[in-house]
Amino acid sequence: MRTTIEAIRRFSEDGERFAMVTAYDYTSARLVDRSRVPLILVGDSLGMVVQGNDSTVPVTLDDMIYHTRMVVRGSATSLVVGDLPFGTTAIEDDAVRAAVRLMREGGCQSVKLEGGTPVAPLVRRLVDVGIPVMAHIGYTPQSVNTLGTRVQGRDEANARRIVLDALAVQEAGAWAVVLELVPAPLAAAITELLDIPTIGIGAGAGCSGQVQVWHDLLGLYDDFVPRHARRFRTLGDEAAAALDEYAAAVADGSFPAAENSSTMDAGILARAIE
Ligand code: KIV
Ligand code: NA
Repeated sequence: MRTTIEAIRRFSEDGERFAMVTAYDYTSARLVDRSRVPLILVGDSLGMVVQGNDSTVPVTLDDMIYHTRMVVRGSATSLVVGDLPFGTTAIEDDAVRAAVRLMREGGCQSVKLEGGTPVAPLVRRLVDVGIPVMAHIGYTPQSVNTLGTRVQGRDEANARRIVLDALAVQEAGAWAVVLELVPAPLAAAITELLDIPTIGIGAGAGCSGQVQVWHDLLGLYDDFVPRHARRFRTLGDEAAAALDEYAAAVADGSFPAAENSSTMDAGILARAIE
């Protein structure tokens, strides 16, 4: 059985902090299912970690549907949330169509969209047609080209705006809200203020849950580690070492071994190559 939104709500009401992780394909979704992480985000961060772009701006709705479908196929027990990518929420009617496609063709159980007060009417419309919405406020990566700083809400006006954003998306019917790169005390205060769960990334431990990017958590990069991330493993080093061992085993003839190969009758072979 898949984790339900109701179950996540209960975690949050019981003060049980929960983890969410991004995943972008079948195999990683299978791994999340084997773990105690109940929530998967098919994040448009795939624009960076899968596609190699330097922001999420180039990601299309078709990209998101493609990856969401793979993740949904790989997961049987995780609740899967799909990101609405850059530009798809700009015009409300288009946004509804985009969210319907992501749910129907991607197969996720909820969408996520960036923005607060300005997108509240859209959140309401989506919820009204039966599409659960996770909101995403604070630092919103799709606005990388208009936002000045990364950490949001350090000054009073900005902090106030984020509080109002949180209240607006809750009021509009969002079932959860991601708080990205906001000061920990502000995120904790918003978590207190809201009835819906907050999910932090770079927002301190006072949120109802946390979300992290797969590649950051598992140490698949060897260059940049964002401050908000912790590498719980360095699988990138493991993978590179495995590839080196493979290359060496090919070079010295120890791979493939007999158990990796099949045999045939010598007589048949002799006649075949005559
Ligand atoms: O796309 C993503 O990975 C995200 C999370 C970092 C919240 O939106
Ligand atoms: Na995202």
